Amino acid sequence: MMSRTLLRLAARLIWILACPVLLLGGCGPSAPKPERSSTVGDAEAGAIWIGRSGCGSCHQIPGIMHANGLVGPPLIHFSRRTIIAGYLPNTRENLVRWIQHPQRLAPGNAMPEAGLTDQQARDIAAYLHGLE
Ligand code: HEC
Repeated sequence: MMSRTLLRLAARLIWILACPVLLLGGCGPSAPKPERSSTVGDAEAGAIWIGRSGCGSCHQIPGIMHANGLVGPPLIHFSRRTIIAGYLPNTRENLVRWIQHPQRLAPGNAMPEAGLTDQQARDIAAYLHGLE
């Protein structure tokens, strides 16, 4: 009995001692913000933007209703694709750029500029990169 109480006390002490360290190191006001690169997106929102932007009229996209177009390449298994549009490494940053400005990156190709905001493009990229 006695030793259990002592153990609990010790555990509590450790927490009390560790807290300032945790605060300083992880979640205190002076702690560095968790990394939010300029390419962080929300996949669920991305699915909505994909639906609204009509991407599916040209692409097959798993999980998006009526996305069965055949003009562009199918976007199945997209996270496993190594190259975008035949020449760009499939990084998150490149994908965001491509989604937003396909005509700047490959002038004259059939994919139109959809007028997407940075955030919309990031969200869409998050969705596509979620396709295993
Ligand atoms: C009018 C048809 C059309 C629409 C609409 C369209 N795309 Fe495309 N997309 C293409 C074509 C064509 C390519 C191939 C371009 C190339 O390789 O030069 C392409 C390429 C891509 C690629 C690279 C695929 C790969 O395997 O290389 C992605 C990703 C992509 N589109 C996403 C989207 C998204 C997201 C939307 C909606 C915002 C969209 N596309 C709307 C025609 C379209």
